[in-house]
Amino acid sequence: MVEVIFITSNESKYREARKIGEKYGVNVGWIQLEYLEPQGNDLREIAKLSAEMLTKKMDSPFFIEDSGLFIKALNGFPGPYSSYVFKTIGNEGIIKLMDGIEDRTAFFMAIIAYWDGNKIKLFEGKVEGKIANEIRGTGGFGYDPIFEYEGRTFAEMGDEKNEYSHRRRALESFFKWLSER
Ligand code: IMP
Repeated sequence: MVEVIFITSNESKYREARKIGEKYGVNVGWIQLEYLEPQGNDLREIAKLSAEMLTKKMDSPFFIEDSGLFIKALNGFPGPYSSYVFKTIGNEGIIKLMDGIEDRTAFFMAIIAYWDGNKIKLFEGKVEGKIANEIRGTGGFGYDPIFEYEGRTFAEMGDEKNEYSHRRRALESFFKWLSER
């Protein structure tokens, strides 16, 4: 069985990755660690720089993942600032910002950065959906209660979120690549 370590402070992310790993024969281990994320406008660059900093602490392979919610009518906001925006204005704030806006198109993007001991490789996953008109559902975490995919929010889906999510898509390409090496 392929084994790989996921470094994240977010237990929900780890649980999702662990479940998805089971489908691909990958055993996902966990190091619960909060690391400094550089700010910037590019999710790929942020993930790469974060992984690079962690290589100084880690002597075996690992991966990290960085996500963002990109709202079309807000020119991609909060995007790479999703974490800060969630902590400050949260889902209520986003719903208010979107008040009266007709085009509610948004996507989630996940970038995985994998350190193989020598170099960093990036994998990407994206899911298109909409900002809901109101907060709905009790599952998931973060923006899940306002991100609607085919009529339901991610927070209304339970584990089914793992079939469609940006994280699932990024992990899928990563795990496929990992198991075919
Ligand atoms: P980060 O990747 O941990 O920096 O996440 C950025 C922000 O997006 C945080 O506020 C997370 O809660 C949120 N986020 C990341 N992934 C998801 C997801 O799958 N669903 C909902 N919110 C998410």
